Amino acid sequence: MYINFWYPVAKAEEVRGDKPFQVQILGLKFVAFRDSDEVARVLSDTCIHRGGALGKGWVRDGCVICPYHGWEYRGDGKCSKIPTFGDDVKLPARAKVDSYPTQEKYGIVFAFLGDLPEAERPPVCEIPEYDDERWRVNHTVVFEVGAYYERSVENGLDAAHNEFVHPLQGAPSISETLRDRPVEVEEQPPWGSQFLVRFGKSMSEDTKVLGAGEGTTRAGSGHHGPNALITRIIFSDTRAFAQYFFEAPIDENRTRIFFVNIRCFIMEEEMDQKLIDMNMKIAAEDIAIIEALDPVRTPHCTTKELLTPADLPIVRYREFLQEWEDNGWRIDQQELRAKRGDIAFAIPSPDRREHKNWVLDPVPLMPAA
Ligand code: FES
Ligand SMILES: [Fe+2]
Repeated sequence: MYINFWYPVAKAEEVRGDKPFQVQILGLKFVAFRDSDEVARVLSDTCIHRGGALGKGWVRDGCVICPYHGWEYRGDGKCSKIPTFGDDVKLPARAKVDSYPTQEKYGIVFAFLGDLPEAERPPVCEIPEYDDERWRVNHTVVFEVGAYYERSVENGLDAAHNEFVHPLQGAPSISETLRDRPVEVEEQPPWGSQFLVRFGKSMSEDTKVLGAGEGTTRAGSGHHGPNALITRIIFSDTRAFAQYFFEAPIDENRTRIFFVNIRCFIMEEEMDQKLIDMNMKIAAEDIAIIEALDPVRTPHCTTKELLTPADLPIVRYREFLQEWEDNGWRIDQQELRAKRGDIAFAIPSPDRREHKNWVLDPVPLMPAA
């Protein structure tokens, strides 16, 4: 798991009213709420007084209030009131929690969980089809998977599993393609890579129903950063699906996935739910596989598995992960596991680069290369 990327926190409508939204990402807790300008704010959830959970408190006048002794925190993380201090008493400089940059896009509140200054941050994964009227966007579906998020992203980058995991998708024609020549991985610098394979001749009846012609269908996937996956299924110039999966690792065993499904055909509104149902049926087939993988977490090397040319997109993904680890962005899970329960940690926010004086320790990170 890596700091310094954008993670989906909540659906926009989940962040509202006087109840804060508490969520766990990267193994740590966060609280989301709206400030007095209705801007979604995301803070570290741990009150620095004596460890109260801000997400269990309430929101008033754009501040989140700790349920234990009523300390109030603004959207920028600064404490604006300590009830046991008189109004004229200056609050200590350390009375603050980490506040993370946010963006509201695609009906999702994203938080940048890291300390990079704005100019160096990777962008949120773009959805070029989102505001294009030729495409129809389904409401975002959120679901939870009992698997590590990298295992889930790798499953999305895997063209060779379809024939076995999704027999109804017409995938037998993919393995013919994969035998003919290795998958070509296309770079999408600096944050990702993708591939697209052309289906072979034998099409399933289902695929034909969707308007695929013999030999015209292409499908493939890509990743943006460690945790956004894009799948494209292109039957023809005018018939295609674009699927975006924004993944938030809850911990090392669970992942919350925000799924945005977009299409440029079958535009009828009444088909929205049918298509979601169909996609969730396919997702359930993937989930049954990835929840049973051993080891649970993705090996960060190529020698502890026997990989083939069809696994090239996965190899490339792991190389990216290694780059981000070399940057010093990978959380040291072993150390975190060993210290959990005795020490409260926070993901360092950008303000830590500007100001000292933080109560909580920053999460332990693997050393940069
Ligand atoms: S623990 Fe939050 S106010 Fe005391
Ligand atoms: Fe799949």
